[in-house]
Amino acid sequence: MHSRIPYSRQTIDDADIAAVADCLRSDFLTQGPQTRAFEEAAAAYVGCEHAIAVSNGTAALHLVCQGLGLGPGGLLWTSPNSFVASANAGRYLGADVDFVDIDPQTGSIDPDALEAKLAKAGAEGRKPDILIAVHFAGHSFGFDRVAALCAEHGVLLVEDAAHAFGAVYEDDPQCKVGNHPLSAATTFSFHPLKSITTGEGGMIVTRSDMLARELGMLRSHGITKDPALMTHARQDDGDWYYEQHLLGFNYRMCDIQAALGVSQMQKIDALMEARRSRARRYAELLADLPLSLPLATDCSSWHLYVVRLDPTRTQVSRRALFDRLRGERIEAHVHYIPIHTQPYYRKLGSTSGDFPQSEHYYDYCLSLPIYPLMSDEDQDRVVACLNDALLHA
Ligand SMILES: Cc1ncc(COP(=O)(O)O)c(C=O)c1O
Repeated sequence: MHSRIPYSRQTIDDADIAAVADCLRSDFLTQGPQTRAFEEAAAAYVGCEHAIAVSNGTAALHLVCQGLGLGPGGLLWTSPNSFVASANAGRYLGADVDFVDIDPQTGSIDPDALEAKLAKAGAEGRKPDILIAVHFAGHSFGFDRVAALCAEHGVLLVEDAAHAFGAVYEDDPQCKVGNHPLSAATTFSFHPLKSITTGEGGMIVTRSDMLARELGMLRSHGITKDPALMTHARQDDGDWYYEQHLLGFNYRMCDIQAALGVSQMQKIDALMEARRSRARRYAELLADLPLSLPLATDCSSWHLYVVRLDPTRTQVSRRALFDRLRGERIEAHVHYIPIHTQPYYRKLGSTSGDFPQSEHYYDYCLSLPIYPLMSDEDQDRVVACLNDALLHA
């Protein structure tokens, strides 16, 4: 019996386990030095001034949108080819959510579609307040144009880089994703299948001192202990004193998670290279199959390796191929069911056909296993199964 090949999995070594055990033996399980150390490591790595660790990537998106002033009557745009969290961030705050279709070559927002939609929205007097641009699969193709369009139209740009910690920009490979001069903030996720993990976890990076200060408060009930910010402190108030200035949440990352994050940061370069080399190898091994392969690049963090069946070259259906792989214990997956087709968003007025590129992408896409611990033998098994299913059907 073959072993199971998941579509992704975490990389945990003895150093990670020791780091977590050390934290468990220490004085602080939360609100201690590990969270700050993880933030400092992430900020230095990305090259951005501020990093704010939070409980997960969804909380990161929610907080950023709140910190940027989104609220009832506001409007957020994102792309349908993402996890629902990218859109829900707007809904938590009572804002309206709309979508911009994708470029099927990249799976991310199509800059041409964005340009046309912004022009129309401008003419109708309802431009979005925030655009959440998703770096689908870890890619950043076309992002410079997206950023320039947001700047030109006065739209706040947030990068949902849940897939892209460790990626660099396609238009500027010297610059890590999260450090783009035109974006207001970038969010990451450290769910186990992402570039690095803290079990659950997220991070926001921003260049703005003001936004960073506000986000730091919002993730901890809207409370501050900074004497410089106090408005109602009395002469005899001691170290116990704090003030709540905003309606925040408990979205903190705990120190056990952060200790794992600090340890995972030590191997980020090796984790990135392992994913990139798997992607290069797939590109070589799958070149002759009736599949559209993702654009080749070493800039991506390759969170996902998404191929698309080409219906003009094969009669094999995505479902048949998925089942065939599952039959061999190869757990391919599908990313994503377009958000606007979810029953929740249909109730808000979306319908099938609204974003045809995303819907077509969904009908034919398949995420093949890719993760740093994947061996050549594992990958060869995936390729052999695809060969068999597509060429000897
Ligand atoms: C694109 C995208 N954004 C946001 C999230 C939310 O991240 P988290 O699971 O850490 O809340 C995910 C999670 O998979 C995601 O894929």
